[in-house]
Amino acid sequence: MKKLIIANWKCNPTTLKKAKELFDSVKKITKHLKDTKVVICPPFVYLSELIRTSAKSLGGFVFGSQNCFWEKSGSFTGEISPLMLKNLGCEYVILGHSERRKHLKETGGMINKKLRVALEAGLKPILCIGETKTEKEQGKTKNILKQQLKEFLDNSMAQLVVSEVEPSLNHLILVYEPIWAIGTGDSCNPGQAAEVLSFLKELLSVLLNPEILKNIQILYGGSVNSDNGLNYINTGFDGLLVGAASLTPEFPKLLTKLI
Ligand code: PGA
Repeated sequence: MKKLIIANWKCNPTTLKKAKELFDSVKKITKHLKDTKVVICPPFVYLSELIRTSAKSLGGFVFGSQNCFWEKSGSFTGEISPLMLKNLGCEYVILGHSERRKHLKETGGMINKKLRVALEAGLKPILCIGETKTEKEQGKTKNILKQQLKEFLDNSMAQLVVSEVEPSLNHLILVYEPIWAIGTGDSCNPGQAAEVLSFLKELLSVLLNPEILKNIQILYGGSVNSDNGLNYINTGFDGLLVGAASLTPEFPKLLTKLI
């Protein structure tokens, strides 16, 4: 399976012109990638135009959104449905990002509903989990990750097991994103991240059947840049989620190392 590099642009840049320039700088490199796929996640408002202008591109990248709603349509002012995203040409959706949990008060229950509907709509969810600094210092990392994973997956799992859409869970991407490492420059020590990776694999093997498990990719996110990115891949992660560095020349530099 190809390594996945997720470019999470968050609430940037502020004009379509800049978004196109950023996209162009990434596209130049992605066409040379063989064993790596880049998932570009711009703000909703740029998705349509970027997807349209990329139709004739040489590839190496696909699009994802940074969020979606838990209903497919209806009276939900301001929300974006996973079906709209799928029909637009989006392939992935980021769910459970800690910034949404913090600033938008998203709960495990909401993320669970979004996950279920995103899977039904045919999107591939990029599910983020991670502990705070205090939780880490108190030695609670594993418990927190276990709790988050159970909350986010539980009903989806039950639903999926009894429904036709079970195979779509094949496309689940899990990202270990220690909250203390996001946007701080304080990236997780690769050795510690590798320990968490083994723990997550063990945990998933209890929750999921082996057929589904073998397709699930586990990524690392949190202050990734062109210097440290490869360390996580070398310790066994299936890819990276890149925030701040995906907006700068750091990103093409990181991708160049993966050619
Ligand atoms: P960062 O963000 O790379 O700026 O730490 C990661 C993320 O989007 O969670």
